[in-house]
Amino acid sequence: MPTEYDEIQYVSRPFRQTHPDRIASLAVAYGLTPPDPATCRMLDVGCGSGGNILPMAACMPGASFFGFDLAATAIAAAEQRRQSLGLTNIRLETLDLMDFPEELGQFDYIVAHGFYSWVPEPVRERFWKFLDRHLSPNGIAYVSFNAYPGAMLRHAWRDAAAFHSRGTTNLQDRLAKSIEMLRLMGSATTRNGAWEGVVREMIKAVDTKGESWVSHDDFGPYFQPYYFHQVADTAAANGFRYLCDASYYDMQPHEIAPDVQPMLEQLAAQSIELREQYYDFLELRAFRQILLCRQDQAIARPVDPATMGRLRFSTSANTVGASTNGDFAVQNPLTGIRADVPAPYKRVLDQVRAAWPNSLPFSEIFPAETNRGAIAAMVEKLWGGALIEAHAMNIPCGDGKDDRPVGWSLARKEAALNLPVTTRLDTQTQLDETSARLLEKLDGTVSRNDLQGQFDELDERLAWLGSMGLLNPPPAAHS
Ligand SMILES: C[S@@+](CC[C@H](N)C(=O)[O-])C[C@H]1O[C@@H](n2cnc3c(N)ncnc32)[C@H](O)[C@@H]1O
Repeated sequence: MPTEYDEIQYVSRPFRQTHPDRIASLAVAYGLTPPDPATCRMLDVGCGSGGNILPMAACMPGASFFGFDLAATAIAAAEQRRQSLGLTNIRLETLDLMDFPEELGQFDYIVAHGFYSWVPEPVRERFWKFLDRHLSPNGIAYVSFNAYPGAMLRHAWRDAAAFHSRGTTNLQDRLAKSIEMLRLMGSATTRNGAWEGVVREMIKAVDTKGESWVSHDDFGPYFQPYYFHQVADTAAANGFRYLCDASYYDMQPHEIAPDVQPMLEQLAAQSIELREQYYDFLELRAFRQILLCRQDQAIARPVDPATMGRLRFSTSANTVGASTNGDFAVQNPLTGIRADVPAPYKRVLDQVRAAWPNSLPFSEIFPAETNRGAIAAMVEKLWGGALIEAHAMNIPCGDGKDDRPVGWSLARKEAALNLPVTTRLDTQTQLDETSARLLEKLDGTVSRNDLQGQFDELDERLAWLGSMGLLNPPPAAHS
């Protein structure tokens, strides 16, 4: 039977925090030995039209992927894209989670993004049994949900929109009325209070992500936020443990006043779940993306910097100035974070930066220096500050310097259709017309010489495409 997701298409795009590489890097940091993401089996629950799972499959030929969704139109679009990319390591099926066949076996990474808060109660209940049946013994699950207390504010506009659209039965009309109400709330007041800020942020999100997004996420039939402790308790009752947040940055108390931070640490010593719940109260957190593992997994907290030795690191952070106390102002374009760092940290960043868009194993960061503990501690702090990325696998990229640069096949297809292009780093960007035409041409048969004269600023453009993760590595780097 067609669902609301068949009637109004949901925009499907990559979510880097759900990538097995990122999930595995966090599991390693917390002392686990997760399945190797390069050869894993990954499952995307409610994958929509595959915007998240297809780029991963295209970039990780040694891993296998399964995406399913109740909406047949979304799966048909995903399947069409799969075929156009010629991918054989991914399967896409129209399926209800309630009927997920047991014989499909176990998966190493199960991702349910935008699912738990947006399905009816019986599906949520079944989700936990499904997870127990289908997560491999040392597998990791990613679950996102709308969180209280912050989500209470979303309830306010959801209720206002429901009232404003009362009596409309047609879905498109209901969406139009709901958006009308949201915009009315945004333009109704000239004050600059907390509520006005929240509504304006929401309108900005609608304008950038599209109206269909808010139609489902906020005005759809199911909208069930939870307190963190409620989900953690339900997970525990079903045999799972909270491992950590899907973003290492979000685990750090950046926004918490220094004199309150020791209180959070004391709570963490009692129970990490307690610490996380208080954090949500203090931050008015509205959305959660958590990682779960099975209860018998031996999690090591706090993170031991020595675990950095098992990871790789990458960064595109640049120095953007000097600060008054001798520190350096650096900015990471990937995360948007800008921070002041002391000289030894900048030195680490510069070395990792030199490998961009590729990553360096920890052992290759100043390999001749014996103070590995100090280097590991700096790397861990930079990761927590979102100035550096951690990886559990190598995702090689081209830097645009070779004679016959090869554009990444997925991005070349998207460029040909004038769509935003997906990078090998699991981000999206909109190309200008000239770069889009250049990327389209890079099929490995044309040399720089052939391209000279056809494209202005060729070297700069190729270097830029490389720095965005839009080029394949030269053949020798494939491993
Ligand atoms: C909010 S959307 C999120 C889509 C995608 N994961 C994302 O984040 O872009 C929720 C998705 O779950 C799917 N869904 C809802 N109930 C389902 C069920 N019982 N079984 C499988 N998919 C379901 C919907 O069709 C929809 O595509």
